[in-house]
Amino acid sequence: MSINPEVNAARLLASVADFAAIGATPAGGVNRQALGVEDRAARRLLAERALARGFTVFQDDIANLFIRRAGRNASLPPLLIGSHLDSQPTGGRFDGALGTLSAFEVLEALADAGIETDRAVEVVAFTNEEGSRYSPGCMGSMAFAGVGTTADWESIHATDGARLADELATTLATLPEAAVRPIGHAISAFVELHIEQGPILEQEDVPIGVVTAVQGTKWLEVVFSGVAAHAGTTPLEFRKDPMSAAAAAIASLQSAVMPADPEARLTVGRITAEPGSINVIPSSVAFTVDIRHPDAATLAAMDQHVRKECEAAAARWDCDVAISQRVDMAPGRFASSITGTIEEACKDLGLKSRQMVSGAFHDALFVSRIAPTAMIFVPCRDGISHNEAEFVTDTHMISGAQVLLKVVESLALTNQIA
Ligand code: GLV
Ligand code: MN
Ligand code: MN
Repeated sequence: MSINPEVNAARLLASVADFAAIGATPAGGVNRQALGVEDRAARRLLAERALARGFTVFQDDIANLFIRRAGRNASLPPLLIGSHLDSQPTGGRFDGALGTLSAFEVLEALADAGIETDRAVEVVAFTNEEGSRYSPGCMGSMAFAGVGTTADWESIHATDGARLADELATTLATLPEAAVRPIGHAISAFVELHIEQGPILEQEDVPIGVVTAVQGTKWLEVVFSGVAAHAGTTPLEFRKDPMSAAAAAIASLQSAVMPADPEARLTVGRITAEPGSINVIPSSVAFTVDIRHPDAATLAAMDQHVRKECEAAAARWDCDVAISQRVDMAPGRFASSITGTIEEACKDLGLKSRQMVSGAFHDALFVSRIAPTAMIFVPCRDGISHNEAEFVTDTHMISGAQVLLKVVESLALTNQIA
């Protein structure tokens, strides 16, 4: 029996490959959208592996999945580690899965070494982090942190038509072995390992990012309405063309916002036109706007900028515009007690690290509102993520899991029992 728990590198890499097969896309990525068939299959596999190791498995009413390895003192709140298992429609195999599976590897490593922790350690797979099938993203962690409730989102319909409440019920029923417990139990801290999803760590050849903060995000839905008319017979002065308004607004926002501020981000990722016929001027055009900034006041100013630009474009093209907010995530700061523990772990392991702000939002952003929280980032190739080409080297995956294990040993106060 080993004295020190150790990450089983081969097991971790095999596990990442096994989960990448669930919802695998031909281009090497995954499509495992929240609460869908593939997401359910991934939860099932994780729960089966957990039960086979003698861990306890439970869920809450938004289907956050928890795997608990008991500690010596049942009255201490557990240490929570993990991430999410859902993906973008053309997502990579590491976004979310790596953090969840590394956390599970940590539980197995502790069990292999016969380590008893003072407090329980729980692995979590939060529900619907991505927000691509059901908006907003981070539903599971928001509900866990008391920022929203399942009831707020039950009647949302997916882009494929399925109602969230129905998919949630089916998902919960997929794991009858996992009792449904009240949402939002107390935890001592949360640590989420994730791929960086940007280029900095790779460029600087640093294997570990210690995430100190997460920038803010807002999602807006803009709908321009005009009048459907014949494409061939309607002269310019007779048109109320929402596509012209949308195109003008998008072009002007893209050329104004990011070039003026290197920290600002603006993305139009989805656009639809009704009725969507080649030879019909659309009656309406809807698009999403994802804006992000580390500074809350600047993000608020960007929001105003988007609204003004859209209103100006609507007036110019004689259309109406309606703007609704889908997501409002304020920037968050992580706990220095936890970032310090991660830095210590890196030092112990001889791994270089650097502090950084996350450009992506994460479940940790919401959990940080109720418990000391921080994140561990590992590099990804060319900074590419939300893309099937997303790639992390084996070495970086293993280093990340080793750091997570060391952090868990510190935060859960381990003691050798065998
Ligand atoms: C998370 O998926 C994000 O969009 O930041
Ligand atoms: Mn993610
Ligand atoms: Mn993502």
